[in-house]
Amino acid sequence: NLPKEVIMKEVGPRDGLQNEKEWIPTEHKIAWINMLSNTGVKEIEYSSFVNPKMIPALKDAREVGERIIRNPDVTYSALVPNMKGLEFALEAGIDRASVFMSASEMHNQKNINKSIGDTYPILEEVIKEAKDAGKLVTGYISTVFDCPYQGKITPEQVLEVCDRLVEAGVDDLSLGDTIGTAVPTDVEKLLEVLLKHFPKEKLILHFHDTRGMAIANIMTSLHYGINRFDSTVGGLGGCPYAKGATGNVDTNDVLYLLHGIGIETGISEKKMQQAGLYIQNILGKQLPSRSLAYISNA
Ligand code: HMG
Ligand code: MG
Repeated sequence: NLPKEVIMKEVGPRDGLQNEKEWIPTEHKIAWINMLSNTGVKEIEYSSFVNPKMIPALKDAREVGERIIRNPDVTYSALVPNMKGLEFALEAGIDRASVFMSASEMHNQKNINKSIGDTYPILEEVIKEAKDAGKLVTGYISTVFDCPYQGKITPEQVLEVCDRLVEAGVDDLSLGDTIGTAVPTDVEKLLEVLLKHFPKEKLILHFHDTRGMAIANIMTSLHYGINRFDSTVGGLGGCPYAKGATGNVDTNDVLYLLHGIGIETGISEKKMQQAGLYIQNILGKQLPSRSLAYISNA
């Protein structure tokens, strides 16, 4: 009962770059996103419309959004924390707004400077306005397994945030293993609870690969019928407000798994590897990617 097809969202230009200390010129970001747009991937998160003082690496979100060449087969999303961010994102062009908050009170406070309770009314307004503007909306929930400040998070805590975001009108939920601590039994426990409340089509899994568990966790999620995953090419990235958080699962590793077990994605592995090599070259450092190391040495 594995899904026949999986929809991957490439979050490299957002989650992958948000933590980069070296400035990456806008031209290079645009060229890279254009490459990603031609890999067959169906969704790309191209940047964040957040406070540029907090995430300086993505302060060119508007220019990026205005200048990328849009492939009509790709859904373009961006991170939006508040009404100001939504206004900029709508001007720059988005198909989907990604709102975000945490299941953990302390991570929410560090990341977006508010309590969970104070975040709901802000996101409710953003979600409503985005829907009224005809956009899709994803609700990201961070720290669904563990919080770097608070420890274990229960599935019930996650469910509460999911419920509020779904009531507010999000189309789907992306569940973030922000610091990459989950093992397959944690994924099972969370999905057992959430799938009693939401159809599997509403759930996206967003794994960081800090401890190399992401592929095992994706395999477990597939057995629950989950068919949407976030990833970054080359395993780029990390959350600047979650100490010890490394990159997302490498898109190329996920493709190797999915294609190997007969699940379609529509993505060319070769083109995705080339997009990985391109950004690796721009960053001037080796990405934490087995597949890129393998083809570079071949
Ligand atoms: P705040 O400080 O509470 O907000 O920030 P504020 O309204 O008081 O504004 C402070 C300053 O930010 C003001 O500027 C605003 O104009 C400006 P100043 O007067 O100081 O010059 N500002 C903005 N500027 C541009 N665009 C905006 C915007 N909003 C305010 N949209 C806020 C609240 C949420 C904005 C802030 O805390 C923030 O930007 N946080 C960014 C957090 C972030 O991007 N974290 C990483 C992404 S989340 C993640 O990686 C997890 C995920 O991948 C899933 C997972 O792995 O778990 C999604
Ligand atoms: Mg993330």
